[in-house]
Amino acid sequence: MVRQVTCTAPVNIAVIKYWGKRDTSLILPTNSSLSVTLSQDDLHSRTTVGIAPEWSNESDRMWLNGTESAIATNARLVNCLKMSRAQRKALEDADSGLPRWSQWGIRIVSENNFPTAAGLASSASGYACLVYTLAQVFELPLTGADLSRNARLGSGSACRSIFGGFVGWDMGQSPTGDDSQAYQVAPETHWPDLEALILVVSDLKKGVSSTAGMQTTVETSSLAQHRFQAIVPKRMRQMEQAILAKDFDTFAEITMRDSNQFHATCLDTFPPIFYLNDTSRLIIQVVTAINCLSGRTQAAYTFDAGPNAVIYAPKAHMPYLIQLFAYFFPGSAGSGYFSDSYQCLPEG
Ligand code: DP6
Repeated sequence: MVRQVTCTAPVNIAVIKYWGKRDTSLILPTNSSLSVTLSQDDLHSRTTVGIAPEWSNESDRMWLNGTESAIATNARLVNCLKMSRAQRKALEDADSGLPRWSQWGIRIVSENNFPTAAGLASSASGYACLVYTLAQVFELPLTGADLSRNARLGSGSACRSIFGGFVGWDMGQSPTGDDSQAYQVAPETHWPDLEALILVVSDLKKGVSSTAGMQTTVETSSLAQHRFQAIVPKRMRQMEQAILAKDFDTFAEITMRDSNQFHATCLDTFPPIFYLNDTSRLIIQVVTAINCLSGRTQAAYTFDAGPNAVIYAPKAHMPYLIQLFAYFFPGSAGSGYFSDSYQCLPEG
């Protein structure tokens, strides 16, 4: 007898970046962060969780994108399964009439419809989907905040994919992580005019994983310490206000500044970490140029731990932006050239 549930979960792209942990096993961050959850129609993880009494005496098993992947050596996965089982067991202990699902074996089949580990937030949608599906299969009465803490045990950014729309992750203060959870700043219906365009520069697995990279940054970058203390708390407040007011100019400026500062802390890490490549830098120049030349903010770029860009822009600007990027990038619909460094200078 197998009890089985399938769910999908979306990707989120941070506009205020999480980069650094104060506790690496509970995945507690050194700063709060904020992201936009993208529509599930495009990028998502899809996970099926099955539980069955006949698997009780075997180890739990998982297949990721068609290949079996070990659970026992993956501490984060083990933590997520342990937490969901413990939450189920607590229900069973409180009500002896409930079936003892917490004792059944688990099988997980998960796939992403986009490149895994190429800086496109696959761990975020993957772990959000896993803990959500586990909660469904075990019939756990969890709130969004509870689910976000479960997802955080798998990957920090996953806690934000539990909610749609604009989502904050409060870093919290407690050493147990009880207050380190996601919250919705505004729902997906709040700002329908805002769209995201993903420019896949490379779908190769990144050289330095987020997990390893951010710890080296915490240990070696003095710029990162300044960012945690003096920059991010203020930016979180400004960004939330910009989102609530649908103020694209402020949203765009903070998004681009925060992406730049995150990559600056990577450069300030010792040894340095480079996620952006020449194509990424050209994208930054193109966006900077169109914003400056048109005299208004047309688009914002942001880059995670990889060379791929996410462009946020009002819907009306998208057709023109797509044409422009196609022109600038050889191999796509057109090609173009941009001089070494474009800078927007004050007039006169
Ligand atoms: C640059 O959530 O992948 O995308 O918690 O170690 O799994 P772990 O890291 P992860 O880091 C994401 C970093 C980022 C910024 C962000 O999404 O906020």
